[in-house]
Amino acid sequence: MAKRLVVLVSGNGSNLQALIDNQGADYQIVAVISNKLDAYGLTRSTQANIPSLVLTLKSFKDIGKTRLDYDLELAKLISIYQPDLVVLAGWMLIVSPQFIDALGGKLINLHPALPDQFAGAHAIEEAFKAYQRGEITFTGCMVHYVIPEVDAGPVIAQARVPILADDTLEKLKERMHQTEHQLIVHATKLALRDSD
Ligand code: GRF
Repeated sequence: MAKRLVVLVSGNGSNLQALIDNQGADYQIVAVISNKLDAYGLTRSTQANIPSLVLTLKSFKDIGKTRLDYDLELAKLISIYQPDLVVLAGWMLIVSPQFIDALGGKLINLHPALPDQFAGAHAIEEAFKAYQRGEITFTGCMVHYVIPEVDAGPVIAQARVPILADDTLEKLKERMHQTEHQLIVHATKLALRDSD
């Protein structure tokens, strides 16, 4: 039977789209959750008839609740869908150790850099600058199990992304995203096999 996937997004959701386009015998996406009301990923899930919901951090802060309250509520919401795996596909909030624990190791993240390089929200920009300084000749992306350290954890799959002499940052981003769209599907299927 197809495994159950919950996907968390914050924005465009092009990686969510890759996962949507490759649903089938391996997995079905049972819910999409966004922390942003205007995330285009929500439109993508609606178009694919996948239930989606929004939980903003601001709505918690506004009533005096903490970041941890938010994470615990998010974990509770996710568990309603009984996922075999939760995929952070462009989820821009850092997750707490309690959130990771609540999901019992069934949490993976996509990051646009290779292991131990350029953690954080500006990985592609940082790689491009490092290339211009002559420090690297390629970058890459990875999907890894989530641990408390940001953009680190056991790697499920990784792919190299070359940086070319006539690249602009935009060209590099485009090449990165195309590579990510393949990697996220491949790594999700691998992680689902791991969860058997
Ligand atoms: C991707 O580059 C992902 O690696 C990073 O955020 C971006 C999300 O892109 N964490 P999208 O929303 O899937 O188009």
